[in-house]
Amino acid sequence: MQPDKLFSRSARLMQPSPIRRMAGLVNQPGVISFAGGMPNPATFPDKDLRRILDEIVERDGSRIFQYGITRGLPEFCELLAGLLTKRGVTIGDGQGLMVTNGSQQGLNLVSQVFLDPGDVVLVESPSYVGALACFRNHQAELVGVAQDEDGIVPEDLAEQAATLAAAGKRVKFLYCIPNFQNPSGVTITPARRARIVEIARRHGFLIVEDDPYGELYFSGVKPGDIRPLKALPEGEDVIYLSSFSKVVTPGLRTAYLAGPEWVIARLELAKQAADLCSSSLDQRLIYEYCRRGLYEAHLQEVRDFYDVKCQAMLKAMEQSMPAGITWTRPRGGMFLWGTLPGGMDAEALAMEAVQHLRVAFIHGGPFFVDGTGQNTFRLTFAKEDVPAIEQGVRLLADFFLSKVAAL
Ligand SMILES: Cc1ncc(COP(=O)(O)O)c(C=O)c1O
Repeated sequence: MQPDKLFSRSARLMQPSPIRRMAGLVNQPGVISFAGGMPNPATFPDKDLRRILDEIVERDGSRIFQYGITRGLPEFCELLAGLLTKRGVTIGDGQGLMVTNGSQQGLNLVSQVFLDPGDVVLVESPSYVGALACFRNHQAELVGVAQDEDGIVPEDLAEQAATLAAAGKRVKFLYCIPNFQNPSGVTITPARRARIVEIARRHGFLIVEDDPYGELYFSGVKPGDIRPLKALPEGEDVIYLSSFSKVVTPGLRTAYLAGPEWVIARLELAKQAADLCSSSLDQRLIYEYCRRGLYEAHLQEVRDFYDVKCQAMLKAMEQSMPAGITWTRPRGGMFLWGTLPGGMDAEALAMEAVQHLRVAFIHGGPFFVDGTGQNTFRLTFAKEDVPAIEQGVRLLADFFLSKVAAL
């Protein structure tokens, strides 16, 4: 067999994530890990979910193991519409909703429905590697848009859109993660959200708004400041994705997307061919969890859980990081983003740190689409407890100091 002759063009282009190469080292016992991007299992409500499972099997019997309909269990969709209303997004009136097998499936379906080879997707610099891989697998051309501590820079977005239009390129959508972004922890300001929506409308491309972290805001954040772009007066064409992965558990692959009905109808056809429907059991568990009022109470606990860790990391960074290193101050989510002096190679440092220091972090390069970001890195505060965070940051700070001094 000659695999290269058999694989499709897109399969031949598929690449393993450069971050996964570190996985073996990062997960060794004794390593303080600021790498990885997974929610902390201590936040998973396993006892409640087990009790609910027992009760619904007892009550409904084998019925709950049946196929469901492609858009999602109707009562669950109704509940999700209610959650979205609280965020300012109204379903109905030309807008639809569909449950997906994680937001990752939502991104893949959106790519399948909108992207032809060579189409342009605008992405934040840096952006989520899982989405970049998905767009690449659909042979899109990825163009980075500048981002600062207030999120996407609207002037750069407008300029990129104009340049691409002048070059005859077709921009299909802007992919953005407006709240506590993975990887940077940055949040787009309300004023910029409105400008971004206006620019997209003016240039005729869609916005794919990926919001798995929006509910994970820390104390002091006003929910009004992180309202979805889709909730804006001109945001009706925005495709909005959200997920229970970070706030309940990623093991129940349950997420949802909202968008114009003409988009949802086409995504539904793509999903039918992909998996017929999302797991009925997973949906029912999350539905019951929310219906019983457990979700709201749990959310507050999860926010506090990550808030404490984030503050511990930020304080340790302030106290020990050498001059010349900068970092973001996330107000929610699971990540912060650091920048080393220009010319430093974060990938080599990450390898050395995990092997010799037993502290793991992720180098920033793979989150960029233009080969930049070699001197950047991502830290997650999700995994370790506060003493380990303090110790790990101190070790990293001393390590970086020795490298900066040797420059
Ligand atoms: C920005 C972003 N979008 C989507 C996902 C995928 O989430 P899900 O578990 O819902 O597929 C992740 C997971 O890390 C993420 O960080």
